[in-house]
Amino acid sequence: MIRRYTPDQYLASVVKHGGDRRAAANELGVSHHALWANLKVCEDAGRSVPPSPYIANRLEYVRGKPPDVAANNQALQATIDDLRGQLEAVTTVKRWAASKPSKRTARKPNGGKHLYIPDTQVKVGVPIDHLAAAGNYAAEKRPDTIILGGDWWDFPSLSSYDRGKLSFEGRRYRLDVEAGKAGMERFLAPIRKAKGYRPRIVMTLGNHENRVNRAIEEHAVLDGTIGIHDLQLSAFGIEAHEFLSPVVIDGVSYCHYFPRSASGKVMQSKSGAPNALAQLRREGRSCVAGHTQGFDIACLPFSGRLQWGVIAGSFYQHQENYLTPQGQDHWHGVVMLHEVQDGCFSPMVVGLNYLLHKYA
Ligand SMILES: [Fe+2]
Repeated sequence: MIRRYTPDQYLASVVKHGGDRRAAANELGVSHHALWANLKVCEDAGRSVPPSPYIANRLEYVRGKPPDVAANNQALQATIDDLRGQLEAVTTVKRWAASKPSKRTARKPNGGKHLYIPDTQVKVGVPIDHLAAAGNYAAEKRPDTIILGGDWWDFPSLSSYDRGKLSFEGRRYRLDVEAGKAGMERFLAPIRKAKGYRPRIVMTLGNHENRVNRAIEEHAVLDGTIGIHDLQLSAFGIEAHEFLSPVVIDGVSYCHYFPRSASGKVMQSKSGAPNALAQLRREGRSCVAGHTQGFDIACLPFSGRLQWGVIAGSFYQHQENYLTPQGQDHWHGVVMLHEVQDGCFSPMVVGLNYLLHKYA
């Protein structure tokens, strides 16, 4: 049965609860609307209706009396606290976004960080601004080791492929040397300028640099006149490793290419594994090579550790004349290896166009 109250009974309940409409409505078991309607009847009849505690508090404040903090609505305070928390969170995110990447605190990854720069094949007349972009990228990302995969120098003057042909005209050894050195200067300049950054820089010499040694072997008269020392790698602060001599860093074997056959023997040294998976299986450990244009990758578990095979052999903007038009359509870029430890790592490819767009 619905119980009905007179306006005076509504008013009496509100007075009893010090003006608190909610407490009065709860006590009578009526809706707020019914309570307000009956109080209005009392007001119209000239009866004194007490204000709600919140309004009374506001009135006292307006009249000059300090507000009674204890009487403040708890829900209102909770809302204020919530808004304050939200503002604090937004401010923290804004501060993080405005800070320099080097100032941001992040959990330090396990293991090393390697930047692999594939074949650049620098020679006179080819664009080299991507090398400056790669240097800027390295200076920002700060890998602890930079591996130059070899064939940095192209050495067309020592090529046996088109010797005696029209295309060979005008080639000079000294120009080839200086072209590669100019590219190296562009790459290293931002790294040298980066404060507090001194990475280990390694080069696994390629078959193009090895053209110098081969020319001396074929023409003994050149002995003592030219040599790999012309590249001045030590002056650049680069640790050079002989052609086809692998260097192992944090468990990853680096070499210009890996010529081991499927039987496990090295029967020839003119070419590497046909693909990344074959290279990984034949070497039995993580191994990164250049030399072959494009990009190929594979991973397999060895003795409970995930190992990787990578072949990345092109980081240049020009077109190579010895390739057909269809042969020019391959991937160009560098590879960043994160968390390198015992041959395990997380690979990340960084494309040539991205570097030119963001870092040139
Ligand atoms: Fe090569």
